[in-house]
Amino acid sequence: MTILVTGGAGFIGSNFVLDWLAQSDETVVNLDALTYAGNLQNLASLQGDERHRFVRGDITDRELLAQLFQTHRPRAVLHFAAESHVDRSILGPGAFIKTNVDGSFALLEAARLHWLGLEGDAKPTFRFLHISTDEVYGSLAPDAPAFNESHPYQPNSPYSASKAASDHLARAWFHTYGLPVLTTNCSNNYGPFHFPEKLIPLMIVNALAGKPLPIYGDGQQVRDWLYVKDHCSAIRTVLAGGRVGETYNVGGWNEMTNRSIVQTICALLDEMKPAAAGPYERLVTHVKDRPGHDRRYAIDARKIQRELGWRPAESFETGIRKTVRWYLDNAAWVANVQSGGYRDWVAANYEQR
Ligand code: NAD
Ligand code: TYD
Repeated sequence: MTILVTGGAGFIGSNFVLDWLAQSDETVVNLDALTYAGNLQNLASLQGDERHRFVRGDITDRELLAQLFQTHRPRAVLHFAAESHVDRSILGPGAFIKTNVDGSFALLEAARLHWLGLEGDAKPTFRFLHISTDEVYGSLAPDAPAFNESHPYQPNSPYSASKAASDHLARAWFHTYGLPVLTTNCSNNYGPFHFPEKLIPLMIVNALAGKPLPIYGDGQQVRDWLYVKDHCSAIRTVLAGGRVGETYNVGGWNEMTNRSIVQTICALLDEMKPAAAGPYERLVTHVKDRPGHDRRYAIDARKIQRELGWRPAESFETGIRKTVRWYLDNAAWVANVQSGGYRDWVAANYEQR
């Protein structure tokens, strides 16, 4: 048996592949274009492991997709591949439409053609699991109830709009064609292999380098944070037991302001690697806000708990401690991802704000 994972060299995808192969002998075909966000070093521990077949390629490449389905005949697709950074989507939305919308469309079509040719039990048990975000629901007022699965879609950024479009395509491929689709909408993840353009890893690597910690606007925006391994276990749970055509919200029951996230990271670093120059809080700087910045996201994850028994295993306290430890122990990984392209991004997003 084989599963096809797209985007398996990125942050969540690589954690998923590593966890999958730690628990199962089922082969993983990993299709990833290796954009700036894809990194084979995340998968270095799988070198020589026959169960992992890496294919460098683009999900918009229909010929390649057809060939992959024909050769490997996966019993499930786990679709992680995406452009995923809101700030990049503001400065350059084109790549988001291409990968997240056109790419998801191409993948759904290739999966449908494969599924149509399946026989016997293989057909009803096939699964297409589309991995999406809570950002499709838009922004919540401070006292509004958390997003449940029937919350209206109100995406506000080019990123969330492109993900919302892909969610709608996935939904339509189930309703119109009967393709056995499942969708998960998850809150903000953090953990090992997180590219340091996103809030948590950026703050850790900047603090360690003695650089400013740039908080957008007043820093009172709220996100619901989930340790990445918990997201991976939720995806495995939905793949195994989710009802086809359904969506499942996944979250950490952990709402925090950006300001308090940064405070927590500074306090942990003060404990684990104190700086000679004094507490890391001294590096905090408030910078111009992100345009269209969503104020609050919060996930109501009761459905996945009620129907499938899933709950996160980590609290924020345990997860963030593991994460900071991982960045302290993996300085070579951090140095490697801070390439010329990374420095160009930092200049574009922070120096020209
Ligand atoms: P990421 O940016 O770290 O990784 C994306 C991966 O997709 C990279 O390896 C990249 O090379 C690959 N990719 C990009 N375009 C491609 C293309 N055209 N063809 C093939 N591969 C391509 O993203 P992530 O944070 O790991 O997110 C994975 C998925 O989870 C995304 O769909 C994202 O929307 C969703 N998600 C992310 C979060 C989060 O907090 N990071 C939360 C909820 C949902
Ligand atoms: P991010 O990690 O980009 O995730 P998302 O925008 O998808 O939620 O950002 C998380 C929050 O942190 C968001 O409110 C924007 C804020 N932020 C900063 O304040 N400074 C930064 O340098 C970054 C990257 C994000």
